[in-house]
Amino acid sequence: MTPALQSHATLALCRLAPVIPVLVIEDPAHAVPLARALVGGGLPVLEVTLRTDCALEAISLMARVPGARVGAGTVLGAHDAERARAAGATFAVSPGSTPGLVAACTALDLPLLPGAATASEVMGLLEQGYRTMKLFPAGPVGGPDLLKALHGPLPQAIFCPTGGIGVQNAGAYLALPNVACVGGSWVAPKPAMAAGDWAAIEALARTACALRVP
Ligand code: 3PG
Repeated sequence: MTPALQSHATLALCRLAPVIPVLVIEDPAHAVPLARALVGGGLPVLEVTLRTDCALEAISLMARVPGARVGAGTVLGAHDAERARAAGATFAVSPGSTPGLVAACTALDLPLLPGAATASEVMGLLEQGYRTMKLFPAGPVGGPDLLKALHGPLPQAIFCPTGGIGVQNAGAYLALPNVACVGGSWVAPKPAMAAGDWAAIEALARTACALRVP
């Protein structure tokens, strides 16, 4: 799958809901109830970061939850992309991009949402065919002001900003013409997961879902 087709697929995913939850799952028993809560709250696109021992198992479990569109996050290279694909991930998210990662996702037919933080990185991704990308880390690199500035010369780039976004500032990002959705961990706080408070997570998802700009 070419980078252009990958970008087409990730843009469609980004347009399904205003927020992609960025998930760090420590206990595989959390995977299914967490996915059900988020999907139930209106957030079907889920990014499971490959930062924990059970992340791949969680992806396999969550991929079977009706309505869930499960991808892997923190995909740093070909090996991660292969493991994510084998576990059932249907897309990959990376904080950046490397030639090896792009080649692997292209060979695996795994749509990649690659990360960029500067105009040159955005231009590099556009040159390869990626029009949809993650701005990372969105807050520290300039937030909505940076996205507004990038939109002038690079209006063809569409972003999922992630990093430092919460319910209080997501609206400022979502109002921008070059933002399709935002990513964030705030919808699945660690204490709520540890307590098995899936109703609280579903309520956070509902609030996040309502952030969509009409
Ligand atoms: C991450 O690095 O974990 C993601 O970008 C999410 O960042 P956040 O915790 O600031 O939402």
